[in-house]
Amino acid sequence: MSAQSEKKEIEFPELPLVTEDFLSKAQAAAGCQMAEYAPGEREALLAGIKKLLKEQDAVLVAHYYTSDDLQQLAEESGGYVADSLEMARFGHDHPASTLIVAGVRFMGETAKILNPEKRVLMPDTEATCSLDLECPVDLFTAFCDGHPEYTSVVYANTSAAVKARADWVVTSGIALPIIKHLAERGEKVLWAPDRHLGSYVQRETGVDMLIWPGSCVIHEQFKADGIRNLKEKYPQAQVLVHPESPKEVVELADVVGSTTGLIKASLNPDVHAFIVATEPGIFYKMKQASPAKLFLEAPSGGLGGTCESCLRCPWMAMNGLRNLAEVLKTGANEITIEEDIRARALVPIQRMLDFARRHQIIVKEKGNA
Ligand code: 13P
Repeated sequence: MSAQSEKKEIEFPELPLVTEDFLSKAQAAAGCQMAEYAPGEREALLAGIKKLLKEQDAVLVAHYYTSDDLQQLAEESGGYVADSLEMARFGHDHPASTLIVAGVRFMGETAKILNPEKRVLMPDTEATCSLDLECPVDLFTAFCDGHPEYTSVVYANTSAAVKARADWVVTSGIALPIIKHLAERGEKVLWAPDRHLGSYVQRETGVDMLIWPGSCVIHEQFKADGIRNLKEKYPQAQVLVHPESPKEVVELADVVGSTTGLIKASLNPDVHAFIVATEPGIFYKMKQASPAKLFLEAPSGGLGGTCESCLRCPWMAMNGLRNLAEVLKTGANEITIEEDIRARALVPIQRMLDFARRHQIIVKEKGNA
């Protein structure tokens, strides 16, 4: 039976939808855009955080989608800016006993799963991810139980409990080679939670796949028509697309890749302008590496909740200098994971890391680009 015909017979669970109302509230809570500071406050916070990091034997690891301030601070204080997996791997290799994870909750959890002996703190543990929210463990478990003949593969953007129930964990940079490998072994794949990334790897590999219907509230908003119009204005620009974007947007891409893959693509010395379909926090690294190049945000549908066309992830924006300084002072917001779940979640993560090592895939440089 083909994947297509089989998919029609499958009844997917009703997801707890991330409504616009919910998103608006998250944006309001986050203040969404960059924080405003009283004169001298920002500088005082930066100096104070650097001192506290040393005093607390702590290192700051930030995702590419956090604010410029946090990315710069991570670099200047001997920390790291990366994707979620590399954030966790860096934390593992670094001698600091405390990891400060500036990102969203699943990133803090992954860091803790890989580094149980370390203290993992986050500026705001309410910083979540629509993909994580749309894949609750009870629904996911019931779905897996209903389809035992499928190998379950979950995206890193899931809770520790969902990872604990999965056969494999993948990031966007390593999804393709792992799914290809499973297809070669004749396995069928139950994929969760990002439907766009899932359908991208399904199209690329032809694997028999059941795809969970979740999506990223940010990438979901990119619009193919808007990108086509912008491309007419800047015909020399390359289109860089994260595979969490809808199919029509992926089809316009010159390069489809993870955050690391897209940053790598922006280094191409022959290209001087880019239309970028991913969270705009990524521009910090792109502009830092290529200050003379033109980087344009891919147009969106303008469904950004409180701020019409804002494509900043409201949960990433919950990470700021003030709450970072606060957790360093108080030790609040520590990530804890029940040991049974942590140990089970480690298995599919380790499977991915072992696969990357065996196949010499440097996950940091995500091969898609
Ligand atoms: P990357 O693994 O490409 O950094 O993606 C992380 C993410 O959460 C995208 O929304």
